[in-house]
Amino acid sequence: RKKVTMQTLKTLYKKGEPITMLTAHDFPSAHVADVAGMDVVLVGDSLGMVALGLDNTTEVNMDDMILHCRSVVRGAKSAFIVGDLPMGSYEISPEQAVESSLRLVKEGRVQGVKIEGGEELGPTIKRITQAGIPVVGHVGLTPQRQNALGGFRVQGKTCTSAMQLLKDALVMQEAGVFMFVLEAMPPEVAALITQRLKVPTIGIGAGNGCSGQVLVQIDMTGNFQPGRFVPKFTFGGEAARGIAQYRDEVKSRAFPSQEYTYPITKEELQKFEK
Ligand code: KIV
Ligand code: NA
Repeated sequence: RKKVTMQTLKTLYKKGEPITMLTAHDFPSAHVADVAGMDVVLVGDSLGMVALGLDNTTEVNMDDMILHCRSVVRGAKSAFIVGDLPMGSYEISPEQAVESSLRLVKEGRVQGVKIEGGEELGPTIKRITQAGIPVVGHVGLTPQRQNALGGFRVQGKTCTSAMQLLKDALVMQEAGVFMFVLEAMPPEVAALITQRLKVPTIGIGAGNGCSGQVLVQIDMTGNFQPGRFVPKFTFGGEAARGIAQYRDEVKSRAFPSQEYTYPITKEELQKFEK
């Protein structure tokens, strides 16, 4: 498969072909997403929960992101790879945001960065874009701001709130955002925002009127928790079943059977046993 670039994504968008995105947080999860043909692999700060066992994304820092981005980049050879700017790495000033974005690209080796927020990020997005770094905007439910949003709550359920989301997206697009993640909003609102924009939108809990979809891989596999949006794709039960079978077969000495062992010739064995 040829490397997916920003140009590839633009072409998919122009053709009206849905863009597929999945998160990954390490080498194997990146490999499987890439082999399965994902257009974009996102190293989301959700890795704080799904890989590090934290309660939310607020504690995730730049060093965590860089370590995980580097591992994902080694595993995903073809997908376009985006890394999240974690909370605290971009809010202070546009300069801070450029510095953090440069680190994600130069040390984390990702192709683009994702930033959570709204119209207030205009100048910041402009600066990151001017530094030659593709920016994905993330609007709607922005988990880093859960304390201000009053928890993980669906956004855009009132006309005022939906209007603000649209305004946020338009300002961010104007500042240089080349793709959006729209999280947790009514499908009609996401579809309308998508229609008004000139760049693709990738939805999560935002209906099928977006230009593509994204899921958190661990939600999907169900190894950690049952999928919120994805019960029908969940195969986490398979991993748990496999591990339980391994446990049982070790206990009963059924594993490892002969086929899983390394042979030695009879001659050598007889000499050894003497
Ligand atoms: O961190 C993440 O996984 C994300 C997706 C939910 C879009 O931001
Ligand atoms: Na995220």
